[in-house]
Amino acid sequence: MASWNLANTQHHLLICNGSSCKKEGAEELTQSIRDEIMAKDLDSYIHTSRTLCNGRCQDKCVLISYPDGHWYKEMTSDDAPRFIDSLMNGNTIADRISHTYNGKGFVRSEGTPAGKEKNAELVKKVSKNL
Ligand code: FES
Repeated sequence: MASWNLANTQHHLLICNGSSCKKEGAEELTQSIRDEIMAKDLDSYIHTSRTLCNGRCQDKCVLISYPDGHWYKEMTSDDAPRFIDSLMNGNTIADRISHTYNGKGFVRSEGTPAGKEKNAELVKKVSKNL
């Protein structure tokens, strides 16, 4: 059982390994991201976790980055070097961002399909309180 010291962690990456993302290369993406982190000796700064489905299968492969609050779409193993470089430089790979947290919710990027609303009435009610 692992117990990471997170004191110096700057980024937490949630890499989707649900079935749709897996069919699209999530395992290779996960390994490439982890290899890149190891190669650059960034283990103390970037933590990764595999997840099950994140509910945005049409965006496969999905990768979520916290605390910056970006959801990435269509990620492949080839994206790992530039993605890790972007994190360390305080940038993003803008062409792969599907959603960004703005303090109230996740704003969908242009060109990213909306997806279905889970509970439109609840969303309206919560939005009024923000
Ligand atoms: S399997 Fe990755 S979002 Fe559904």
